[in-house]
Amino acid sequence: MKYFIETYGCQMNVYDSELISTILKEDGYEEAENISEAEIFFVNTCAVRENATERVINKLRQHNMYKRKGRMKIMGVLGCMPQHDNDMLKERLPFVDIFAGPDSYRRLPELIKKAINHKRNEFEEDIIHDKTENYDQIFPSRKEGTNAFIAITRGCNNFCTYCVVPYTRGRERSRDIDSILEEVNETIDMGFTEITLLGQNVNSYVSGEYNFPKLLKRISEVNGVRRLRFATSHPKDLDDELIEVIAEKNNICNNFHIPFQSGSNKILRDMNRGYTIENYLDKIDKLKNAIPGITLTTDIIIGFPGETDEDFQKTLDVVGSVGYDNAFTFIYSERKNTAAERRFPDNVPKEIKAERMQKLTEVQKNIGLSKLREDIGKVKEVLVESKSKKREWQLKGRTEENRIVIFDGRFGIRSGDYVNVRIKDAEGITLFGELIDIE
Ligand code: 5AD
Ligand code: SF4
Repeated sequence: MKYFIETYGCQMNVYDSELISTILKEDGYEEAENISEAEIFFVNTCAVRENATERVINKLRQHNMYKRKGRMKIMGVLGCMPQHDNDMLKERLPFVDIFAGPDSYRRLPELIKKAINHKRNEFEEDIIHDKTENYDQIFPSRKEGTNAFIAITRGCNNFCTYCVVPYTRGRERSRDIDSILEEVNETIDMGFTEITLLGQNVNSYVSGEYNFPKLLKRISEVNGVRRLRFATSHPKDLDDELIEVIAEKNNICNNFHIPFQSGSNKILRDMNRGYTIENYLDKIDKLKNAIPGITLTTDIIIGFPGETDEDFQKTLDVVGSVGYDNAFTFIYSERKNTAAERRFPDNVPKEIKAERMQKLTEVQKNIGLSKLREDIGKVKEVLVESKSKKREWQLKGRTEENRIVIFDGRFGIRSGDYVNVRIKDAEGITLFGELIDIE
């Protein structure tokens, strides 16, 4: 039987879908080229914000036509949505056959076998948390590309009051160092040169004597790892040891995704973030001083309960003073079963949230562009990823600092190659350049 997986949400979900692929292939299933060929259809979901949930529900209702046509036999909803609120899903999606949470993927072949004999409106449900499930020894079926994701931790213990992740992905656990190294070597053998280590909070990795900086250093010393990245970092766990390792090792990319969420200490406290904005800015200063040329990106939530104009102004001030390449900005979305839902009424009016969002987007747009413009005239090493979407003859790649570069291609240059590009212009979040030689 053929399966097709559609993935929503974070990079961890992309990685998990690759794990699911391996689990299914090992049981004899084959990957379909597209959904219309599939007999089994899974959607891997995200529950972080309400609008993502609604989008998936609508998508599944549309896709139900493939089941009605007869080829598709099984439809499953996987990941954070079923783990977060399966009663709601079961009620709204009566045609779905399998609901399985992030710790249940090893049992998918079993669930499929049971579901295949179901009568109408019967379903299989497996949303049992497993505190130890790390999917060690299941190596993801990676799609072609230039970057390989490798999970090093799963789950989260931070309990930011707005966030469902500690409930959907469970307690934080670190993967065994040997299993990680085995996977690193495997991806290098497959031809990947760029690796991104993943976790909800990579900084709290711990396995034997290895903490995150030591793990990062160890992986950076593996032959063939040319670019090493990681995401996501929590400001409270960012320490001097990590900064030193990044500064010391050339192949650890000079780019940091470091969410601050809000510039107001009152809001940070209500969010249970575990740092003050002064602490955060101190760490940013240290990063900038130790690693010249480092680029920064962040996550920000607008309209958290109780956010006043003054609180929001403090967020704008941080954006103005740090100088991020890019900020991922989200309007607060109240989530069932979180501490924020219990403790704080969602009391910032919709229009104010939208207004603040627009303001923040505008401010960041200008700052991001001025940061990018600093590269104009420089020669940057670019890892070629793919053809540009807009123009057939152009290629798209990334600098070490994770900036996107578009340039005219040349015969023989393929994805995975490293080339030197002189930067000529910048627009939005993209650099434009000219190839100067081939390595
Ligand atoms: N509402 C809005 N944004 C949220 N995020 C997490 N939970 C919520 C929520 N309930 C954002 C945070 C986090 C990113 C992955 O998603 O900014 O860093
Ligand atoms: Fe959610 Fe906070 Fe954990 Fe990130 S660190 S996954 S925002 S609880």
